[in-house]
Amino acid sequence: MSIIIQKSSTIKSSEITPKSIYLDRRRFMQQAVATSVLLTADAMLPAWAKKWPELKHSPYSSSDKLNSFEDITTYNNFYEFGTSKKDPHKNATKFNPRPWSITVEGECEKPGVFDLEDFIKPAVLEERIYRLRCVEGWSMVIPWVGFSLADMLKGFEPTSKAKYVEFTTLLDESRMPGQKRRVLRWPYTEGLRIDEAMNELPFMAVGLYGEVLPNQNGAPIRLVVPWKYGYKSIKSIVKIRFTETQPQTTWNVTAPKEYGFYSNVNPTVDHPRWSQKKERVIGLPFWQAKRDTQIFNGYAKQVAHLYDGMDLNKYF
Ligand code: MTE
Repeated sequence: MSIIIQKSSTIKSSEITPKSIYLDRRRFMQQAVATSVLLTADAMLPAWAKKWPELKHSPYSSSDKLNSFEDITTYNNFYEFGTSKKDPHKNATKFNPRPWSITVEGECEKPGVFDLEDFIKPAVLEERIYRLRCVEGWSMVIPWVGFSLADMLKGFEPTSKAKYVEFTTLLDESRMPGQKRRVLRWPYTEGLRIDEAMNELPFMAVGLYGEVLPNQNGAPIRLVVPWKYGYKSIKSIVKIRFTETQPQTTWNVTAPKEYGFYSNVNPTVDHPRWSQKKERVIGLPFWQAKRDTQIFNGYAKQVAHLYDGMDLNKYF
């Protein structure tokens, strides 16, 4: 992230999809699928996507105005497909995220190799609207589709030695061409303390805007941790490991003075090279785009207690 030069947004406010229009659009899509008007598009969806029910709306959702599908899918950080914001959209088109399995190992009673489809059950899927706040200073509001990380992890029965959870992205430079360049330590890894991971907020996303997750957003499955900077929300996950000691994380290894393990959104703890007091909302005209950064990205009620007694300047 440190090597990115930020450009000011060129996206007009008129391109932001208001929620009402999005909901109308979803209703339209559902009717269209029912009447086979969208037969071609429908046939391209994986089998499980056809089974998606009318999604429950999570109470943890933000009520902020949604970013447009266009914003969310063309302004990305996904270094496996290039380091500039437009690269993932262009370079991930050929990536085929199926079949997909997730290896679960380490301190748990039920390790194994699981097919992704085992986790995508209509009964657990819901829509959660979270603001993604990037450490670079921009944010977007995204209607994710997925399920609770905690519920998923409980199924593997972590042991009492499981103090942390590590996540790993696919390592395959033939499918992720950005990995041919050593800009980061591959594969990308991330981690959470077990109590953070078991909090109700972390979300495993398999879709957005009611659709299958676009490749550039981390297909077929990625993490979303809404009170932490965006780089904790690791994409295209192939491995989950329960550990007794704090796992290494890609950005922390790359620049330990700049990117800590915790990475909680915090307006009072600046990045060594820039302030975190304000953020720029992607998609708004510049005179409306700045807003105050919220402590824990607005989720203090749910997560502040996880850090009781900790010096957040030290554990940044
Ligand atoms: N995961 C992987 N594997 N590789 C990445 O480069 N970038 C992170 C995070 N997850 C990244 C990743 C960063 S810096 C951000 S801000 C978010 O993904 C961006 O998610 P989005 O592109 O869906 O908005």
